[in-house]
Amino acid sequence: MKQFTSVQDISDVAALVQEALEIKAQPLTFQDLGRNKTLGLVFMNPSLRTRLSTQIAAQNLGMQVLVVNADKDSWAMEFQDGAVMDGGTVEHIKDAAPVLGSYCDIIGVRCFPGLQSRDADYSEHIMQQFIRYTGKPYVSLESATLHPLQSLADCITIQEHRGARRPKVVLAWAPHIKPIPQPVANSFSEWMLRSDVDFVITHPEGYELDPKFTGNATIEYDRQKALQGADFVYVKNWSSYRDYGKVLCTDSNWMLTEQHLRDAPNARVMHCLPLRRNVELSDEILDGPRSLVQQQAANRVFAAQAVLRRMLS
Ligand code: CP
Repeated sequence: MKQFTSVQDISDVAALVQEALEIKAQPLTFQDLGRNKTLGLVFMNPSLRTRLSTQIAAQNLGMQVLVVNADKDSWAMEFQDGAVMDGGTVEHIKDAAPVLGSYCDIIGVRCFPGLQSRDADYSEHIMQQFIRYTGKPYVSLESATLHPLQSLADCITIQEHRGARRPKVVLAWAPHIKPIPQPVANSFSEWMLRSDVDFVITHPEGYELDPKFTGNATIEYDRQKALQGADFVYVKNWSSYRDYGKVLCTDSNWMLTEQHLRDAPNARVMHCLPLRRNVELSDEILDGPRSLVQQQAANRVFAAQAVLRRMLS
């Protein structure tokens, strides 16, 4: 595998999930695979889980890891072709990326969207320039539109906690105090559409995601109806794709509580973290037996390790 930016880079989701579960059972089996190889991680935005889990995964494979916080402990980068760089940016991606490529065997980058221009964000211009100018295998640590390592960890978690029958999985919009990008919701949708689940999305009108990622998923605006009989409820905020980057709803009733799950007695609740307690999800759910959020975070290690192992192989 040369690139991991989306579910489109995977031919068989179930097989990759199975590989990750085998790695989880014996995480140090392939400690020689990454010997004398270096993983370079570039963060243009903050991270706790992605940063640490990817480092642990690389170390479990015997790799060395370099981490750069762009704009903080490296130079502010310019991404516009032909830019006259007489402003705040100091180094062009055309100059910086080949340097990274010469130091590292695999590159991972986190680059959030600006939420100002939908066309600019959805073109994935920043990620595409890193891929082009580093010239090395590339793993997305979350891009402007997708977060595939998170989605793989989510698939692993669902596989571990599903019963014998095909589960019903509901992606449920939740409120937030500020505009949040769409990558986790986009990505979860496209991975669920490639998984053996019944998938429903529920959100207030105006929060429809890019149909490129939601395909033929069922969209149900009545959340109570959507939640009926759910086995997994994935709670997440995102800002509007239609009215790009706008917050259209602040109704606190969209925060998921135990009461909303009265018709889904066995539902397990998921969230990628970080989250705002008692805004997106209630304490009673997060601190109770339904919550899978810590299991999801733990599985980030094995998601990253499965992907890196394929790249090293
Ligand atoms: N879920 C997730 O990507 O967490 P971080 O932003 O902390 O990496």
